[in-house]
Amino acid sequence: MRIYLAPIRGITDCIYRNTFGRYFQGVDAAVAPFISSVQGRKIKAAYLRDILPENNRDMPLIPQVLSNDPDDFLFLAQQIFALGWQEINWNLGCPAPMVANKHRGSGLLANPERICQVLDKVLQFYPGQISLKVRLGRDSPTELERLLPILDQYPLSEIIIHPRLGVQMYKGVPDLEAFRRCLPLTRHNLVYNGDIIDVPSFASRQKSFAGIHHWMIGRGLLANPFLADKIKNGEICLKIGNVPDILKKFHNELLDQYKIRLCGDSHVMGRMKGLWGYLADFFANPAKIRKKINKIRRITDYQNAVDNIFTRKNYK
Ligand SMILES: Cc1cc2nc3c(=O)[nH]c(=O)nc-3n(C[C@H](O)[C@H](O)[C@H](O)COP(=O)(O)O)c2cc1C
Repeated sequence: MRIYLAPIRGITDCIYRNTFGRYFQGVDAAVAPFISSVQGRKIKAAYLRDILPENNRDMPLIPQVLSNDPDDFLFLAQQIFALGWQEINWNLGCPAPMVANKHRGSGLLANPERICQVLDKVLQFYPGQISLKVRLGRDSPTELERLLPILDQYPLSEIIIHPRLGVQMYKGVPDLEAFRRCLPLTRHNLVYNGDIIDVPSFASRQKSFAGIHHWMIGRGLLANPFLADKIKNGEICLKIGNVPDILKKFHNELLDQYKIRLCGDSHVMGRMKGLWGYLADFFANPAKIRKKINKIRRITDYQNAVDNIFTRKNYK
């Protein structure tokens, strides 16, 4: 079994991924939040910094690309390969209207011809491996059902499917029956991604899809970083202390690094508030914790507040 940490822009940057890798077991690799180019010929410095090998020593990484243009994609793929990464992931799932309206991310799923143009070009010159991360479609699951057989002609490493539509964003529930319909439509290895939030939600999907051995988890791991370990090992493998201690140390290390990397209290607080949007669910009263954290402006106040949260009485 393989478990990937899903890309969550705004949270799973290199600081988060590496710190996660030092504290928690069970995740085999992370896919990075997407990188795109500026006018086809430049990668933003912040995007590049996030995938530099020296900034990614503690978690195996697969960089991700967002593009709908053969030359632009090839440029990005070659830049990433030159850094030393052997595999890239192509984002064909992003539901954000700003992305999808421009026929990128999930907005490209209804256009297999364009997808083929990109793959034809890139696979001709790019020596690495490519995987795809897709949704069922932007507007209809027939988009992926039509695309999958066409993709059989390409040597893809795997296809990660988040079984929602782009227009759904993150609403509703994953369409497991639509995912099932995808299974016979492809020769490629499929990875299931979506709403695995605890061991039972993983176990029921594992039971439903016996042929799936690779899983991707995003929000569930942000809310419970021990989840992959629990899924793989049945219980948490505590190498360096008890659960509250590890979680607190993990959090404090993230905070220390963001204080160095980001400029000023409001940026650091923005980042930590984003994290608590998910991590609060680890605790007994998530709504109360979110409310408390969201009110805080200064890092010193924040540090006092989180010291209180990380006390045993708050754990479920
Ligand atoms: C705030 C946010 C940012 C995301 N950023 C990305 C991204 O950069 N690339 C990508 O492929 N998916 C992105 N996703 C989608 C996740 O990787 C994942 O597919 C989705 O959350 C469903 O999996 P989960 O239920 O395990 O979280 C993002 C999701 C959220 C909520």
